[in-house]
Amino acid sequence: MPKRIFEPNTTLYPVAIILVTTGGEHPNVFTCNRIASVSAEPPRLAIAVRPNRYSHTLIRASGEFVVNIPSPAQQTLTDYLGSVTGREENKIAAAKLNLELAKRIKTPLLADCPVNIECIVEREIELDSHTLFIGLVQAVHADEILLDAKGDVDVARAQGLVYACGIVRERPTNPFNPTEFRQLVKGD
Ligand SMILES: Cc1cc2nc3c(=O)[nH]c(=O)nc-3n(C[C@H](O)[C@H](O)[C@H](O)COP(=O)(O)O)c2cc1C
Repeated sequence: MPKRIFEPNTTLYPVAIILVTTGGEHPNVFTCNRIASVSAEPPRLAIAVRPNRYSHTLIRASGEFVVNIPSPAQQTLTDYLGSVTGREENKIAAAKLNLELAKRIKTPLLADCPVNIECIVEREIELDSHTLFIGLVQAVHADEILLDAKGDVDVARAQGLVYACGIVRERPTNPFNPTEFRQLVKGD
């Protein structure tokens, strides 16, 4: 099959998306696909965030964030959280999200996501369009159904469970309408 050459861009396929909570005791949440596992000892995750995001201000102010891995059933939710800013609307209240206290940081977890990873920002790197926040992992929460006989998180098992595997996408589904999402939540 012939290939075409494109101008430089960050095409990576597939890309998993996550939901980032941040802001300590006054949390916000946004959808993010620029996420990477960047070291093992100690474990670090890095997320790239545009400076104009409300969450960028909150990550700087609180020095912490939580990586919440959504389930496929939360697809529309990820569109909403990635299309509306917490500056204008309390997304956690509007989407009726259930929060849970973290173990080692002040920012809460999204209780309905099967995996949550608490991070403290260790350093940041300016990368023109984005800031790369490098987080030291403080604690990992995983639904018990994902554990193997030894009590470790079994990735293969997570992949076999439709509810637990992540969502792969780079942009909101098209067309996405936040007003329809809000009405859906209200009608619950
Ligand atoms: C699938 C998807 C992936 C996204 N990935 C990123 C990302 O990696 N970094 C980023 O800064 N914004 C990303 N966004 C955009 C933010 O989620 C969006 O601008 C959001 O409204 C910011 O919310 P906030 O202003 O409350 O922080 C993504 C949006 C979608 C739908």
